[in-house]
Amino acid sequence: MILIGDSCNKDLSEKLAEHIHAVVHYPDIRVFPDSEKRVRINQDITGHDVLILKSFQTPVDSSVIEFCFLVDAAKRAGATSVYGVTPYLAYQRADHVFRGGEAVPLEAIIKMIETSGLDKILVAEPHSIKIPELFIIPVADITAMPLFADKVREIQSDLSNVSVVSPDMGGIRRIKILSELLDDCSWATINKDRDLETGSIVATRHEGEIRDVCFIVDDMIATGGTVVEAVSYLIENGAKTVYIMATHPVFAGDAVIKLQSSNVQKVFVTDSLGIPDEKRFEKLEILSLAQLIAHNLKEENVQ
Ligand code: R5P
Repeated sequence: MILIGDSCNKDLSEKLAEHIHAVVHYPDIRVFPDSEKRVRINQDITGHDVLILKSFQTPVDSSVIEFCFLVDAAKRAGATSVYGVTPYLAYQRADHVFRGGEAVPLEAIIKMIETSGLDKILVAEPHSIKIPELFIIPVADITAMPLFADKVREIQSDLSNVSVVSPDMGGIRRIKILSELLDDCSWATINKDRDLETGSIVATRHEGEIRDVCFIVDDMIATGGTVVEAVSYLIENGAKTVYIMATHPVFAGDAVIKLQSSNVQKVFVTDSLGIPDEKRFEKLEILSLAQLIAHNLKEENVQ
């Protein structure tokens, strides 16, 4: 197996290489003055299985195109099979038509990825359970919940005072998995309303119990609006200490400022996306998905 790493996410590339006992090779990526890209895989991959790790960083569209070009390059160079590891699949929230006249971006992206020649893909923490079904090629998916469960136990050995909380109703499945991993600890969900025009978010009510120590768990932090609103809501409703755990650190716009200046104790995310230095802040801790990805690859016999 030849591993093509992601130079925008070297931390994960190198940790994954260590776990699967491979050498990581970075492709040559050039950007022309008109923003078109040229990608080149420098290694001889003819007759080899190739694993391409690519996080769909901002600018998202450019990352998706780069990934498709890499898959195309690998196929043209004679790779036997191409396995994509895209821990953060962009456009996951755009999986249906919200208002008449809109596209379904996720389906369009999936078609592009598949037609570029990819044989199989691994994604982390898909936004909904139906996402893997939208692909024709085989999809493996992993969840960061075991990492978060270990972290909860490390912070709080006595779980009797703990609630794990989804900041919206869509996260119930995830929060139940985490609760199970934590000996069925208490869980709650917040009802959130988002204005589709302005994007502003309001937490209106909750179901379940809010205990002293709350761990908000979400699939992603984009603008930060959802989790920061949830922190305020939980504190207003009796929580004394609140942590945030989210798999994908998209950190768009002023998310980092919002998080750092909120009343959250600490923010845990994974390395599903590379985080540039200017987006790393005091309250942030990054947990690596490398071992979970490596474990999944082994189970799927990808070596
Ligand atoms: C929503 O359904 C997702 O699970 C996240 O809660 C949401 O997308 C996060 O976005 P933002 O950080 O912009 O509120």
